[in-house]
Amino acid sequence: MSGTPSSTASGSAPGAAAPRPLSARDFVAKKRSGERLVVVTAYDALFGRLVDDGGVDGVLVGDSVANVVQGRAGTIGVTLDEMIYHASAVCRGVRRALVVVDLPFLTYQVTADDAVRASGRVMQASGAGAVKMEGAGAVVLDGMRRTVDIGVPVMAHLGHTPQASAVQGAGRVQGRDAAAAARIVDDARRAEDAGAFAVVLELVPAELAARVTEAVAIPTIGIGAGVRCDGQVLVLQDMLGLNDGFAPKFLKRYAQMADEVRGAVRRFGEDVRAGAYPEAAHSF
Ligand code: KIV
Repeated sequence: MSGTPSSTASGSAPGAAAPRPLSARDFVAKKRSGERLVVVTAYDALFGRLVDDGGVDGVLVGDSVANVVQGRAGTIGVTLDEMIYHASAVCRGVRRALVVVDLPFLTYQVTADDAVRASGRVMQASGAGAVKMEGAGAVVLDGMRRTVDIGVPVMAHLGHTPQASAVQGAGRVQGRDAAAAARIVDDARRAEDAGAFAVVLELVPAELAARVTEAVAIPTIGIGAGVRCDGQVLVLQDMLGLNDGFAPKFLKRYAQMADEVRGAVRRFGEDVRAGAYPEAAHSF
């Protein structure tokens, strides 16, 4: 939850008292008070600190690290040790936001015991505040319940669940027909019953996300799920325009950093080749 304060966080002045870290209970309270939740991903301490400074409520150490950082085509190759490595780094940068860590493929879908053990390891080794599990099959729900029972907050994830891309189709909107929509509403209720404190809704029609939001008392966090969710999550590198080859309909880019990076590296190269860097001011 709280990491090493290496600079200011959440707009606080240097030397100011550390802000109170947000908890899973704060997420539920914010839904009750009608305050929208802001969540972004991070995979390292530097971006963890920067997004915390930006005032987010939650930092998701997503298994999207597979696509964004590891250059994989999907998320199922990420291991629990890799998630713990990234989560530990993020926790060193974040002081206030709730850090939520994705349980990777095969660490919670086979038995509930696996889920409890994997969740416990993530919490113990990284210092994160919660874990996230995709889907709402019988084993996953059992694992959710037992994980919450040992004191680990669980965020659910419904709609498009990237670990099931081979079955669902990568990046396909879910819940378009009445039966599939009803299943997603039921799954959200089941996840709430199992003790989940929030539910990510990925790539579902806006009307369906609004139905789910009304059906449960826990907050819905949308990504490609319209504006009537209780909060929104985006992958940081997508919203910063760093991952500029990725342009799904739901994405809004808040910066064009890929161009900035290429331009800065190009200018550095020109300076080095021309002997214009380092100047006297950069030398000892
Ligand atoms: O892994 C991830 O980044 C996620 C978000 C897309 C919600 O699960």
